[in-house]
Amino acid sequence: MQKKHLLMSLLMLPLMAVAGEVTSPNGNVRVKFYTDNQGRPTYEMTYKERPVVLPSHLGLELARDKHASAGMDESDLMDRFSIVDEQTSEFDETWQPVWGETRDIRNHYRELAVTLNREFQDIVSPAQPGAIGQGIRIHNRKMIIRFRVYDDGMGLRYEFPQQPELNYFLIREEHTEFAMAGDHTAWWLPGDYDTQEQETQECRLSEIRDRMQQAVNWGNSSVAVFSPTGVQTSLQMKSQDGLYINIHEAACLDYATMHLELVDAQTKSLSKRLDGGSNAYTPAPQPSDDYELPKPFTFVSHLTPDATGLKGAMQTPCMTPWRTVMVSDDARDMLSSNLILNLNEPCALDDTSWIHPTKYCGVWWEMIVGKSSWNYTDEFPSIKLDNIDWQKVKPNGRHAANNEKVRRYIDFAAKNGLDEVLVEGWNVGWEDWANMWKRDVFDFQTPYPDFDLKGLNDYAHSKGVKLLMHHETSSSTQNYERHLEKAFQLMNDYGYDAVKTGYVGDIIPRGDHHYSQSMNNHYLYVVKEAAKHHIMVNAHEATRPTGICRTYPNMVGNESARGTEYEAFGGSRPDHTCILPFTRLQGGPMDYTPGIFVTRLNTWSNNQSWARITIAGSLALYLTMYSPLQMAADLPEHYERFDDAFQFIRDVACDWDESIYLEAEPADYITVARKAKGTDNWFVGGKCDENGHQTTLKLDFLDKGRKYACTIYADAPDAHYETNPQAYVITKKTVKAGQTLKLKEAPGGGFAISLIAM
Ligand code: NOJ
Ligand code: CA
Repeated sequence: MQKKHLLMSLLMLPLMAVAGEVTSPNGNVRVKFYTDNQGRPTYEMTYKERPVVLPSHLGLELARDKHASAGMDESDLMDRFSIVDEQTSEFDETWQPVWGETRDIRNHYRELAVTLNREFQDIVSPAQPGAIGQGIRIHNRKMIIRFRVYDDGMGLRYEFPQQPELNYFLIREEHTEFAMAGDHTAWWLPGDYDTQEQETQECRLSEIRDRMQQAVNWGNSSVAVFSPTGVQTSLQMKSQDGLYINIHEAACLDYATMHLELVDAQTKSLSKRLDGGSNAYTPAPQPSDDYELPKPFTFVSHLTPDATGLKGAMQTPCMTPWRTVMVSDDARDMLSSNLILNLNEPCALDDTSWIHPTKYCGVWWEMIVGKSSWNYTDEFPSIKLDNIDWQKVKPNGRHAANNEKVRRYIDFAAKNGLDEVLVEGWNVGWEDWANMWKRDVFDFQTPYPDFDLKGLNDYAHSKGVKLLMHHETSSSTQNYERHLEKAFQLMNDYGYDAVKTGYVGDIIPRGDHHYSQSMNNHYLYVVKEAAKHHIMVNAHEATRPTGICRTYPNMVGNESARGTEYEAFGGSRPDHTCILPFTRLQGGPMDYTPGIFVTRLNTWSNNQSWARITIAGSLALYLTMYSPLQMAADLPEHYERFDDAFQFIRDVACDWDESIYLEAEPADYITVARKAKGTDNWFVGGKCDENGHQTTLKLDFLDKGRKYACTIYADAPDAHYETNPQAYVITKKTVKAGQTLKLKEAPGGGFAISLIAM
């Protein structure tokens, strides 16, 4: 202790220094940066002169490790910084995504890059290299904080240039603060290192702590919550005076996924264990005691640890992801913002001609509902892949991925213009696939005896359809990486060009978490290897996306949230899909797998769960839940029963030249009009919560003087998600620009419109 005090008095603290201020191109967003009187990097942000982020500190706490040089007493990058340089610049370009909501995306920002130096000393033996005087040694560490300020928000990141005294470092915790200006309403998910499949909670910031226990999805097969006030990003908020504020991250590459810990009136220290019974996580090393707690309503970054409990292993030159704050007084701007894509690097692939938007159906829903099985046999209590002669085992008679059924789905896809057919359960290993800590769980190459790999692919191709590959990894990542090359080669051999991957259960090797730096590197490795094979990737249970589909556009989808499967696991609230576009979809498209027409599952299975949506509402999701990959998830025979409504799924595009958000309010309603890529046709969708919604749709986005064949798929007047979900009315008429349509959405319902240029 005494030595530490002596050291402190030797240090020269820098005085508070203002580095600069940067405003967005239209002046609405303003960010200030300075170092405070302890040399702590500090920023604040306003929108139209209203506070968005109050003064908040930036910094990283590093871990001492066995390789740290002896005697080094200080290593954190938190305080005692002085500003050595600042650069401002402006950037304006328009780029074209390979697929997306719009043909062109403008990337226009003003930038401030501040170079900071942290000079500190330690005391060593006078004989040590670098020692001066009585053994004082001076150290310097440089760090750049870069801000990019847009009209709808800002991003900031830390950059670590290569330098003599900072080459390799371990992150104990990142302490990026976001001090909110009030007790905002928040739409949040509990912070969890392993699942994102919770229902969204809506409450004031001050109420988060009391809601936490009920917010956790204790039933998920991998759960690791870490704090009574820890939440996930993307976090959507609304201030009491009507500002929409969203915190997320962009370009999370070679870094752990960020959560946010809220400091509230009761916070004593950060990252204490949330007591949730057997599923509760044994916490990672806590931030050190001398970390000063910020004031209430401040969020502090909390990174996902790896198996060691630490948060990152870095080698300079390197940088963190962007920490993003989006803001507007109009909720629609939250949905049309391209801030997160813009903060990612341009496309890294030379040839993207093989990447295409895809509509698909699949042998899937009936297994999720429990009517049939992924596994082929029930004969063994456990299996070892090498020891089984699959030709000799006794089939259980419920295996869904069989030749006859797959052919039926191929016929259905071909007849209805769907591009691909997903088949799950085609490969051996499903007998004991989940939660067994089993490393060698799948080989991704051997089909079950009733799945004719060549014959079915030939059959599909002869009908102009492709099969969509499925690789459930059971989170056994080493196993998947070992088999990856052969698995992708097999896909190339048989003509598959897309794979749905999955990461159910705790990560193997044990101790790691779904959103750690090492797992984020795994997901990206798979995407990059897939690109070499011209394969598109749709990863379920992987990290929530942060816009890296701009750089790697073969990453066409992710689940990374509570998808349609939960309609078979107890159901989701009717407002769920009116929140996801504000939160989960900020980082990239979701494979939500919409399209459930027969919502009462016990009418065709033993499953008592039901989907809280009307048929018209299900159609709306193809527009309000943007994705270049859209599934028609229900069974072919269910679509055949409602073939006139299914016409909309046949017609709707999944790639767009233009998108106009007409109305939006988180958890209440979303209405969007989209122009199909390379055509003059428009599609409009509206989705609402349990209260219903009325909208007057002005068709002023249509080309003037042109006529459109308009088909409206609306809820019937007496439709209701609970009592009358299959009541819809289809109206056809000719319309032109300037006309208005009055639409009534039922509770849990919506509408879908196609406008085909005549
Ligand atoms: C969970 C995925 O979300 C689901 O779509 C898939 O069918 C199962 N895992 C099995 O892989
Ligand atoms: Ca899932």
